[in-house]
Amino acid sequence: MKHFLSIETISAQDLAALVHRGIEWKTQRATSNELPLAGQTWAMIFSKASTRTRVSFEVGVRELGGNVMFLSTNDMQLGRGEPIKDTARVLGRMVHGCIIRTFDHADVEQFAHYGQIPTINALTDSEHPCQIVADLMSVVEELGTWQGKKIAFVGDGDNNVSRSWMWAAKLLGFEFVVATPEQYAVDASFLQRLQAPNVSVTHDVQAAVQGAHVINTDVWLSMGQEGQAEKEAAFAPYQVNQALLDMADSDCKVLHCLPAYRGKEITEEVLESQADVIFSQAENRLHAQKAVMEWLVK
Ligand code: CP
Ligand code: NVA
Repeated sequence: MKHFLSIETISAQDLAALVHRGIEWKTQRATSNELPLAGQTWAMIFSKASTRTRVSFEVGVRELGGNVMFLSTNDMQLGRGEPIKDTARVLGRMVHGCIIRTFDHADVEQFAHYGQIPTINALTDSEHPCQIVADLMSVVEELGTWQGKKIAFVGDGDNNVSRSWMWAAKLLGFEFVVATPEQYAVDASFLQRLQAPNVSVTHDVQAAVQGAHVINTDVWLSMGQEGQAEKEAAFAPYQVNQALLDMADSDCKVLHCLPAYRGKEITEEVLESQADVIFSQAENRLHAQKAVMEWLVK
């Protein structure tokens, strides 16, 4: 039984294959008649808000020939305290796969273990692996390859997206530099586990973006951290603005997983000047996740 729970636990070969298959799904969207989920029903359990992930999975399951049901934890017994392992054993007897967005990463691991159906992490506090497959598609589309490229992540370096990126860099070998404020440094035990010589963490945002082919950013306050507005002052020097972009490679591309908060982690000017890249990146979620679901049921 295969699951897609993290970039940490996938092989480099599988990750690269998913990226390339996502590009194939994108090119063949109008013409493909492959239906790897025909006859299947997939469930989506979400306990956090979502636009891109929800829509791309709902469309993706249908385009692969399956049915999909969206379940908000507000409406489930899970939201009233039913254990995830009981929820998993019930759904495991009724649906063929499950896509989960939640807080605690252990919950998706437990669901996968007890449900015994292909399980996808659609974002936890620890990782956002689907995002990274789509983002790597964008890197290939924009730069041709990740090999030999320098990718900087500027902002909250210790969040789910940056962590998944760090694992991807370890697997695929490109230079990855995280620029994050001292007060919000990447967790030392995480870096100990990562052990990747090609991944570095700095507080020096200018050094991080120098020569970068891609600057990547994300919100300063991830879902669940809404009450921590005091973080924003520390992150202010880490805004992706034109002055920062000017220090990078002359053809540097900006990635943002979205939603974006203009005037905070990115300026209106940079977001709009890079809109083609950023909204293609969002579209890539659909194609990337079709590749992931197909891989899980193969
Ligand atoms: N990037 C992303 O996962 O977006 P949503 O929160 O809208 O799903
Ligand atoms: N780090 C962000 C990603 C949103 C897609 C969050 O967890 O809210």
